[in-house]
This record gives sequence, C-alpha cells and structure tokens, in this order.
Amino acid sequence: MDDIPCSPPRPLARATRLAQAGTRSDAATGAISTPIHQTASFRHPALGRSSGFDYSRTSNPTRLVLEQALAELDGGCRAFAFASGLAAIDAVVRLFAPGERIVVTEDLYGGTYRLFQHVYRPLGIEAVYVDTSDAAAVRAACADPRVRGLLVESPTNPVMRVADLRALAAIARERGLLFAVDNTFLTAWCQRPIEQGADLVLYSATKFLAGHNDVVAGAVVAATPALAERLAFLQNAAGAILGPQDSWLVLRGLKTLALRLERHQANAGRVADWLSRHPRVRRVHYPGLEGHPGRDILLRDGSGFGGMVAFEVDDAARVPPILAGVRVFIFAESLGGVESLITHPLAQTHADLPREVCERVGINNRLLRLSVGIEDADDLIRDLEALL
Ligand SMILES: Cc1ncc(COP(=O)(O)O)c(C=O)c1O
Repeated sequence: MDDIPCSPPRPLARATRLAQAGTRSDAATGAISTPIHQTASFRHPALGRSSGFDYSRTSNPTRLVLEQALAELDGGCRAFAFASGLAAIDAVVRLFAPGERIVVTEDLYGGTYRLFQHVYRPLGIEAVYVDTSDAAAVRAACADPRVRGLLVESPTNPVMRVADLRALAAIARERGLLFAVDNTFLTAWCQRPIEQGADLVLYSATKFLAGHNDVVAGAVVAATPALAERLAFLQNAAGAILGPQDSWLVLRGLKTLALRLERHQANAGRVADWLSRHPRVRRVHYPGLEGHPGRDILLRDGSGFGGMVAFEVDDAARVPPILAGVRVFIFAESLGGVESLITHPLAQTHADLPREVCERVGINNRLLRLSVGIEDADDLIRDLEALL
C-alpha cells in the first residue's frame, strides 16, 4: 500500500474559497472573521525593519485579505481595493500619458463618461467612444497609433450589449494595447475577463461584490506582476484607498457572492421572461433571453447572465406612476444589492451621456432599469404587474 502515489489535493471550488475568504488570515488568535485593523500606522520592530505593514495608505492587513480574495476570484496576480469604482477607474487611467487615447465603450456608465470628458480630456488623455459589441468597429478605432488602451464595459449599462472579450483581447494583443474590462455587472462569478485575455479587471465593488447597498468601494485586478507593481505604486501615491471597515464589509459580502448571484440571475431570468410577454412592454434587455444579441458569447465564455434587466414600456407616461408606485422594488440609483431597485437611466445614471448616443443605443424616456434582488420572484413580478 505504501508505494501507491498520493494524488495531489483537489483544488477547492470557487464557492468554497469564497465562503472561506480570509478565515485563516489571523494566525495570532485564529479569529474566523478577519479582524478590522483600524489603524493608520504600525510599530516598527527595529530601525530598517517592518512587520510588512508600515502605514495604512500603503497597505493594511484587512484590506490585504480582501485584495487577495479579489485577485484569486478573478484569477489575477494581485488586486487593489479603492474608495469607489470611479477611484479604481481613475487609477487605471493614470497608467496612460497625455497625448494617448483609449478606446472606450460608447454606452458606458455616465460617471465614467463624465470622468473621461471633464477630467482626463483637459489633461490630454482622450476617450474614443465605440460600440464595443462590434469587434470590427473596435479594430478600426484601434488603428489610430495614438490609441494605447481599450476599456470595455460588458454587458453595458443598461441595454446589455455584450462584447466578445476574446476577440477584443486579440486586437489589443496585436496592437500592444492595455485591455481593461469593467466587470461590475457580471462579476467573476459569471465572467472572468483575464481568462479571455484582459490585462485588468475593474469593479464598482459597491455593487454585486459587496452586495448589500451599504458600502461604496472599487477594485482593480491585475493580470501581470508588472501591472500590479505599477498599480501598487499608483494606489499608494494617489491614495484613494478603501478603509479597513469598508474592506471588511466588502469581504463579508464576497463570502455569499456565489449564492447571491445564482439567486439574482434566477430572479432576473423570471422577471425578464415575464416582461417579454407583457403587451405594454416594447423591449426587454437581458442577456439570458433567447435572441438577445451576444447571448451566445456569454454561453460560450461565461457562466451566467447576471441580475440586471432593462425594459422599455410602450408609453413614457407610464414611467412616473411606476417609479412612484413600486412597493417591492425601490426607486433608487444603484444596483447589485440584495434589495431590488428600479431606475430611470436617461434621467439618472446616464444623464451625463450625450443625448444622441442615448437615443441611438436605446436609452430613452421609456426605458427603466431593474437591479433584480434576491427576494421572492413572484413578489417582484406582482409589483410590476400591478403598475403595468
Ligand atoms: C459599470 C459601472 N462602473 C463603475 C461605476 C462607478 O462605481 P462607484 O459608484 O462605486 O464609484 C458604476 C456605478 O454605478 C457602474 O455602474
């Protein structure tokens, strides 16, 4: 029996690793819940020596546990937690220099658009807006030698246009571009952009990663040590770090990501299906619906369709009574929490986007966006039924 070779231990499944994120991080006491290291500074053992932590802007043990869990979840080499999703995007754009251009999804989150137009453009870094669900259009835009990066949201907010990340990664590789994916909507539970060839994955961790509408946070996952080194420098130099309490909240949320996402998308699928058969609904945007453009890409490369649904009613006059009358959905401007929210993208999240882009992609005054939570799906459907 002795000479039977031992088989190597089976790698743990992602749901197991998520549930146990950080549980073995406190060697001193064995605490299961990662301690919140609410400290700005750390005592030096001696001159020229460090415990590994010196000052919490540079690194903090609670934040580090979260960052390690995020890196592992996305299959990256290192992750960085920021004070918000926009702070994470800001760190990534600081990798570029004045005179350089970045090809960006045209129907991206309005706050990211505002950042590009009103902060980076005056500093000489320009966004080139493209329909990134059209790989040929991306290829054409990347032919400009000033283009040095590609920043893609997929599926887009709120009309769920799906990009072929593999095809875009090939274009980025050919042209030597930095390829970043904002994966806020699907999270690594449903889509792992590094496996498709992305260099960086971005998150508003405020949303599904934290998942409880109780914290504002952001994250960047780097695929290579060189990018990680540069981002570590920028995170420390610019300082938009996530604090220890908020790091703990995101870490706690992360433990139930698998459960939550499965329920979010089961509910979203049912709500989308019901809406698609309602006579007063003109259009439903949900990547899991049969016939949704890009559904096949997510079936091929991803492992889910997420919890976001947008729908267009037949008459804009229905919108105010729906927003005022919802009793289970909450009229509020965020997404990804356990509670279902409803928003009017044209007036809210996408108010900063040019009207002609909104009209072209279908963000009009009849469009409503749902962040479908983990409640009972029948309650959610009944809530909409009463108002439609
Ligand atoms: C896709 C996407 N990226 C980035 C952000 C910005 O994140 P935060 O609000 O955490 O700064 C948002 C916010 O809604 C978003 O929806």
